[in-house]
Amino acid sequence: MKVTVVGAGNVGATCANVLATREVVNEVVLLDIKEGFAEGKALDIWETAPINLYDTRTVGSTNDYAKTAGSEVVVITSGLPRKPGMSRDDLIATNAGIVKTVTDNVLKHSPNAILIIVSNPLDVMTYCAYLTAKVDSNKVFGMAGVLDTARYRAFLAEELNVSPKDIQAVLMGGHGDTMVPLPRYTTVGGIPVTEMIDNDKLDAIVERTKKGGGEIVNLLGTSAWYAPGAAAAQMVEAVVKDQKRIFPVCAWLTGEYGLSNIYLGVPVKLGKKGIEKIIELQLNDDEMALLKESAEHVREVMDVLDKMDVVGA
Ligand code: NAI
Ligand code: 2OP
Repeated sequence: MKVTVVGAGNVGATCANVLATREVVNEVVLLDIKEGFAEGKALDIWETAPINLYDTRTVGSTNDYAKTAGSEVVVITSGLPRKPGMSRDDLIATNAGIVKTVTDNVLKHSPNAILIIVSNPLDVMTYCAYLTAKVDSNKVFGMAGVLDTARYRAFLAEELNVSPKDIQAVLMGGHGDTMVPLPRYTTVGGIPVTEMIDNDKLDAIVERTKKGGGEIVNLLGTSAWYAPGAAAAQMVEAVVKDQKRIFPVCAWLTGEYGLSNIYLGVPVKLGKKGIEKIIELQLNDDEMALLKESAEHVREVMDVLDKMDVVGA
């Protein structure tokens, strides 16, 4: 079984490394446009196999999509990352062109592949891949919620001094500062989080989560990669092993939550067919208002993409 990761930069290489180390598939192809870059990263990862004791082969490719043929899942991380002072939306023009070209090339060699988009601005790049791919929306979706909930769970675990394994949470909306962490759907070992922490601290953690990407950009001068790479790999694993995991995923909505024709983060069931079900929570009025606000922001950026006509209607 084969998975391709396009973009051998920080996020792509980390994702490939996690997929290999965890032996999620037999072969991971890492592809990049920069001459020799993917080959170098793939070789370095492969050379960890005797140390980390796994068999997955990691193969590099400089823009040769023939090597990606027959991939079950393709993760698209190619594109520019954020620099300090930039929003994810500032990346739209450059990254849309890249995502379109990559999607076309990938599907020529793996027409049945499931596409997991990581490039930013995430919700709109996923829309761009969907418009380009012209396949069922259950096969084209984006990674953001797994990362954003991981940040939320990590902050809660730190504050409560408990294992992050015991924190379960749902977070919805776009991958930006309008994302909607949902304390009402957050538990610690099955106990509602609101019984474990006072409101002010919880509010502060929700706010920190919303700006979690920016926090790392300010520290590093570029965006995060360990958690994003691991999050994308976890989604790949759910698909290739048909795990039926429930994750927040950037999915195409057709009436769910009263929203249509928009890519937005919602809880879904992930398995062999990709998104196998979109789960509709009974949100209260406040939660629904926040989700709608987030959707409006995503819609504005989708409109920018539509007006640019990168994909060609
Ligand atoms: P990076 O700059 O380290 O890697 C990007 C790679 O894409 C580079 O190696 C570049 O050569 C390659 N690339 C550019 N054009 C290409 C093309 N046409 N074909 C193949 N490869 C191409 O960036 P990093 O940190 O890995 O981030 C990648 C993307 O993921 C960025 O857009 C970033 O904003 C986004 N991101 C999204 C997250 C999410 O939660 N969805 C989290 C973190 C990053
Ligand atoms: C992140 O959330 C910037 O989307 C990137 O780390």
